[in-house]
Amino acid sequence: MVNQEVKYSLKEIVEILISDDAGMDLKKSVIDQVYVAFFEQARIGDLAQNVAGHQAVSLNSGKAIGVMHAAECLKDYHRTIQLLKGLHKSVLNTMAEKPNKKVHVFYAGTGPFAPFVHFLGQLFTAGQICFTLLEVNPESLNCTKELISNLQMTSYVSEFLLADATTYVIKNPENVDVLFSETLDSMLFREAYVPILMNLKPQLAADVKIIPQNVKLSIMAFKEIVDGVQRKYLGSVFNVFEFLKDPSKMIVKEEYVQCAKIPVSKDYEGYKFAIQTEVQVYKDCSIEFDQSSITLSFVLEKKVPFDFNTFNFTYDLYPNLELKCDFENQ
Ligand SMILES: C[S@@+](CC[C@H](N)C(=O)[O-])C[C@H]1O[C@@H](n2cnc3c(N)ncnc32)[C@H](O)[C@@H]1O
Repeated sequence: MVNQEVKYSLKEIVEILISDDAGMDLKKSVIDQVYVAFFEQARIGDLAQNVAGHQAVSLNSGKAIGVMHAAECLKDYHRTIQLLKGLHKSVLNTMAEKPNKKVHVFYAGTGPFAPFVHFLGQLFTAGQICFTLLEVNPESLNCTKELISNLQMTSYVSEFLLADATTYVIKNPENVDVLFSETLDSMLFREAYVPILMNLKPQLAADVKIIPQNVKLSIMAFKEIVDGVQRKYLGSVFNVFEFLKDPSKMIVKEEYVQCAKIPVSKDYEGYKFAIQTEVQVYKDCSIEFDQSSITLSFVLEKKVPFDFNTFNFTYDLYPNLELKCDFENQ
């Protein structure tokens, strides 16, 4: 049992979160402790009662979530832990590769807490690591500035930028070692991870580490059997890393990006079909399907009669970021 009265320092909390030995109950309880402290120190309490605290910001492509929603993401426990572990490893590897360089993290979409600045600041000195903090929601950026100042983390920040990462031009791209963007939802719905990478990745050196390094969408067939659920993998619907690696594969046509055609045989009559999201954070750090709000499975509406042999997926970029599925008989 976790003793609710125990208060850990932020350094102790980060050590608990990256430890392979600490249990999930303890990790959840220390994240809750951080949330309460950040909420108070970022002074977002007033916004909770205010429309501005809940409003999403419409972008050229997709939407940026409101302050209160972004703050809640910290309590998506598995996601926060895996992102921290992956980002930490990517910084350690960069240090090993470039021993004399201060590691520069470009943080696109900080939310009101920019929590990973505070976390990594417990593991590295301001001489070893620095951050550019970019956020499109002015309310969130104000909270981030307040929190950085109140927790005396200013020496870790090179610059605060109020800008849209889907169109922003980086001033000194050669300085950036890690691009971090937590702008994700399941099925890559609404939030701008894909257009952000489409804009920022080509500006950066080829060896820049991107965290999360990939998001994969796949389609599964499933049905309940006596001792559980039988699942069958049907195919990859969208692999962001592959998509960005080879621009010639990117068929941007009539305002959509064509993704995949997946054959489905008559054998699957009686099955249900679901889209699964998997986030590869970095190396062995990943968020598997259904472990987080950003990897929730989506069950497709059943098409009756079963008169199709192909799923046709498209990922729209305009006016909304959205995966669509049609059934075809080819
Ligand atoms: C998931 S939240 C980050 C939450 C963060 N972990 C926290 O605890 O504060 C993602 C943030 O990215 C921002 N964002 C989304 N799209 C953006 C874009 N195109 N440019 C800049 N910021 C963006 C949103 O406004 C939101 O604050």
